[in-house]
Amino acid sequence: MSLDIVIMAAGKGTRMKSARPKVLHTLAGKPLLQHVLETGAGLGAQRLITITGHGAEAVEVAMRAALPEAPLAFVRQEPQLGTGHAVQQAVPELAEAGTTLILNGDVPLVRADTAQALIQACSGEKLVLLTVLLDDPSGYGRILREGHQVRAIVEHKDATAAQREIREGYTGMMAAPTHHLRRWLANLRNDNVQKEYYLTDIVAMAVADGVPVVATLAHNETEVLGVNSPVQLADLERRYQRQRAEDLMEAGVRLADPARFDVRGELLCGRDVAIDVNCIFEGRVELGDEVSIGANCVVRNARIAAGAVLHPFTHIDGEAAGVEVGEGALIGPFARLRPGARLGAEVHIGNFVEVKNSTLARGAKANHLAYLGDATVGERVNYGAGSITANYDGANKHRTVIEADVHIGSNCVLVAPVALGAGATIGGGSTITKDVAPGSLAVARGKQAAITGWSRPVKAPKKS
Ligand code: UD1
Ligand code: CA
Repeated sequence: MSLDIVIMAAGKGTRMKSARPKVLHTLAGKPLLQHVLETGAGLGAQRLITITGHGAEAVEVAMRAALPEAPLAFVRQEPQLGTGHAVQQAVPELAEAGTTLILNGDVPLVRADTAQALIQACSGEKLVLLTVLLDDPSGYGRILREGHQVRAIVEHKDATAAQREIREGYTGMMAAPTHHLRRWLANLRNDNVQKEYYLTDIVAMAVADGVPVVATLAHNETEVLGVNSPVQLADLERRYQRQRAEDLMEAGVRLADPARFDVRGELLCGRDVAIDVNCIFEGRVELGDEVSIGANCVVRNARIAAGAVLHPFTHIDGEAAGVEVGEGALIGPFARLRPGARLGAEVHIGNFVEVKNSTLARGAKANHLAYLGDATVGERVNYGAGSITANYDGANKHRTVIEADVHIGSNCVLVAPVALGAGATIGGGSTITKDVAPGSLAVARGKQAAITGWSRPVKAPKKS
């Protein structure tokens, strides 16, 4: 049976007090609407139809880029005359029959199994509402029943005092038989307090038509919470992160504090991984067995092999190229690994060392205050404090090759392209512009001079 999904996302989000369209604000590093579209895309819909309005252009561009494979369609709603009016705009895009699932662009954490249950219960024949029991349902449409039978939804603003006592609220999500939905939408009127076309009025229409109406309770509150303000966004973010943290701890990961932990993407962990407080993982990050992450690390798009240690305040950003850290490597504190940094086993990268687009073989060490960019570094190389690869001539980048067992003193400048042969030694303070033969010592700095009998200048006496 054909399935269409309609996602309402035209609203302004006034309470966000932001120039950005509400549904492009991010939760776990991803736009709210993208969460909903990704969930929808997993349900096998024929079309994912998003109703846009405020910031439509920006929303459409961002979502097409984020989900290039999904069957996305966008329909503009201008002006915004209510949720019923919003779904009316999607009618030309809908199939003739089958099921239409209606979701909200600002309710990001709706679960796929919940949506699937709505679709199944609907099967193109029943109207299925997702509802939630709330301690404080103010603002929500209330589910009116006669006995067990759902009769209608009344909007909070239109409800009587007695109806406002009802704790069962409509979440804004439903599955409807598409052929009925088309007719019901055509019959909506705006004779209510808000002068809006309410989608929720179709419930009474279904009852009048003898179409069965079913109300299904959500699994939990979190999956139906909408975002209307920065406070609600932060609250939902913490709920989401708490869940991610619990899932990881269930799998054996030791988090120093699940309340100070953030995953904005995919985090895969081996056995006996330990993560200290205030770490942020973005993009796709893999941590091997017994990896230890110190406090305040930010890691994006990286693979950290078994037994490696990231000391506190390490910043790793693999961007598209990725970063690899080998088994048993020791990184940080205060290290920076950039795209294309590939570190072998037992490599040591110490404080204030930056590595970009460079390969370091097993056991190579750069322990203090150094830069390695566009370099190939052999096994056991010792890279001195303050040394840098001058990889950029102002127009082009060039490579530096440092073969195995080279020792580079402190404060050297390796002007690329340049190659240092295996076992070579570079004297501290050298600026190396020519290749160095294996096993040799290269020193390229001003010779020390001794000037005897020299005296320091003295201050001239003050004139009165
Ligand atoms: C709606 C429901 C209410 C439910 C509540 C749950 C109606 C009439 N009421 O309330 O029963 O309890 O959601 O949160 O449906 N939107 C548009 N175009 C519009 C109006 C809204 O796209 O013209 C979008 C908004 O961007 C938002 C969603 O629809 O994503 C819900 O709109 P909102 O104004 O938040 O819902 P309410 O009308 O307050
Ligand atoms: Ca409204």
